[in-house]
Amino acid sequence: MDKKDKANYKIGVIPGDGTGPEVVREGLKVLEAVSQARNFSYSLTHFDFGGEHYLKTGEVLPDSVLEELKTLDAIYLGAIGHPDVKPGILERGILLKIRFALDQYINLRPIKLYPGVWTPIKDKGPQDIDFVVVRENTEGFYVGEGEFIDKDTEKEVALQVSRNTYKGVARCVKFAFEYARKRNKEKKLTLCGKTNVLTYAFDLWQRVFDKISNNYSDIKKDYAHVDAICMWMIKNPEWFDVIVTDNMFGDIITDLGAMIQGGMGIAAGANLNPEGVSMFEPIGGSAPKYTGKNVINPLAAISAVMMMLEHLGQREAAKMIEDSIIKVTSTKLKSLSAGKMGYTTQEVGDLVVKHLD
Ligand code: IPM
Ligand code: MN
Repeated sequence: MDKKDKANYKIGVIPGDGTGPEVVREGLKVLEAVSQARNFSYSLTHFDFGGEHYLKTGEVLPDSVLEELKTLDAIYLGAIGHPDVKPGILERGILLKIRFALDQYINLRPIKLYPGVWTPIKDKGPQDIDFVVVRENTEGFYVGEGEFIDKDTEKEVALQVSRNTYKGVARCVKFAFEYARKRNKEKKLTLCGKTNVLTYAFDLWQRVFDKISNNYSDIKKDYAHVDAICMWMIKNPEWFDVIVTDNMFGDIITDLGAMIQGGMGIAAGANLNPEGVSMFEPIGGSAPKYTGKNVINPLAAISAVMMMLEHLGQREAAKMIEDSIIKVTSTKLKSLSAGKMGYTTQEVGDLVVKHLD
């Protein structure tokens, strides 16, 4: 069933830490406005998990809540990470826990430069910077396998294992081929790996990629090492259409991607389980130093709402949001950076609502 046939979407909201709540507020404002314009309804369930909750109660994210999340149509997340909590506890305990438990095996991250947005790359514009990274989201180094040997001695060895399963790689690569076909731009899929050094992990990726590519003769297949990709994303971003890669490389190259599309203020991502419940988020993190100041850019969080609606089958509503974002970036904002937009966080949300049509 197309999710669009549902009268009422059940959306879980996890505002989370730092600036999460203030950008989520703007995203929800835009959601409310497009739902009226496009005539769909939804109900929100708020979940108050994050650093503050953990510091007060010692609780990170109980399994009962995971079960509840599994009954929703989508999850909208602000940011996870708190300066007073040791790194890893909240990231592993909330963000990665949801990605893994809900088997959100794709992390889809569009890198798209909108008109009027400043990019650090000289002589490149919106026609050059428009590609999508398909990041595997449940395996690799992120599984947390490893060990210390002789910890705290001079003989110490720390092992961290990257787990890549045939099943995990194949479903990700297949999704990427399908996505390249559906996107219908250059019809090109680039595998980003490191076959010259990581001769187990990326040997598997390469074999699976080659095998699956046999079913997609209409898609050009391409390979580049991750270091070269970093170079070309800056020098020739127009070469890319869809890039598929593992969890760790995907994490790294999408931060680079965020910078060339105008910064963390605009970068959004979708944690997809095409057969289950997906989660949508701005990728920039909790930005503690801007918390509560009403200066952070909410466009990434608003773009996450756009991706959520696209996923739910509300294509016209998603398109309305994107068109409005383009109007706002090209005619209003001075910059996409926190504190330099010429508007407050709330005003940017209002501008997006005002330019919806
Ligand atoms: C991201 C973030 C997370 C990741 C962290 C917070 C665990 O950097 O969504 O890219 O590494 O996946
Ligand atoms: Mn990241």
